[in-house]
Amino acid sequence: MKIGILGTGIVGKTIGTKLVQLGHDVKMGSRTANNEKASEWVKASGANASQGTFAEAAAFGELLFNCTSGMVSLEALKIAGASNMNGKILIDISNPLDFSKGMPPTLSVCNSDSLGEQIQRAYPQVKVVKTLNTLNCNIMVNPSLVPGSHDIFVSGNDAGAKAKVVDILKSWFGWKTVIDLGDITTARGTEMLLPIWIRLMGAFQTPNFNFKIVR
Ligand SMILES: NC(=O)c1ccc[n+]([C@@H]2O[C@H](COP(=O)([O-])OP(=O)(O)OC[C@H]3O[C@@H](n4cnc5c(N)ncnc54)[C@H](OP(=O)(O)O)[C@@H]3O)[C@@H](O)[C@H]2O)c1
Repeated sequence: MKIGILGTGIVGKTIGTKLVQLGHDVKMGSRTANNEKASEWVKASGANASQGTFAEAAAFGELLFNCTSGMVSLEALKIAGASNMNGKILIDISNPLDFSKGMPPTLSVCNSDSLGEQIQRAYPQVKVVKTLNTLNCNIMVNPSLVPGSHDIFVSGNDAGAKAKVVDILKSWFGWKTVIDLGDITTARGTEMLLPIWIRLMGAFQTPNFNFKIVR
């Protein structure tokens, strides 16, 4: 499959590497066509990896991942361009973390709205599916890094897109349980898990843990 990754940080790199290993064609997008981190990733990843602008990556992908900094995701998606994204699934991994006042970060949007909803409202013809934002990126693509069974969540308005994403999470990344929370408004819940996630990382001194829902 041709996949566009929006974002050159550790998340974009980790997801992109896994997708290339699975045999997909992946273009990593950035504000600039020759971003240095993307170049390094392309060099390390081989012939199925390429780089470009956010717009070029969005146009290239049949499936898109938003791995941009949450505070600027809307700006990054504006550069990507609605016409390059319309009709496609956008797997949104971003979190609206505001580090401007230091640690711990606060949420720039919460309670009655979420970044997932802001993105869906801004791009009504894009099928936004929020997932994977509640755990470290190494575990996203390798759940067995944490022993036992543990959970991730999906939120989105389009049932078909969500089903496709659940299939991708299971068959490509190896997830066993994916909890469907409902429409995109449920992204409020997973984004608001970040304050406790950050405190857990401080307590455990490692990002290698995940949530397990027991009932
Ligand atoms: N780290 C994790 O394990 C983890 C886990 C769950 C969720 N997340 C979420 O995943 C997302 C990606 O995290 P990350 O640490 O990999 O990367 P990041 O440093 O948060 O974001 C990097 C991307 O943001 C873009 N960006 C920065 N400023 C911008 C601006 N003013 N306008 C447009 N784009 C801009 C950068 O563009 P350039 O390429 O042009 O520099 C780059 O592609 C975040 O929302 C984070 O909260 C991270």
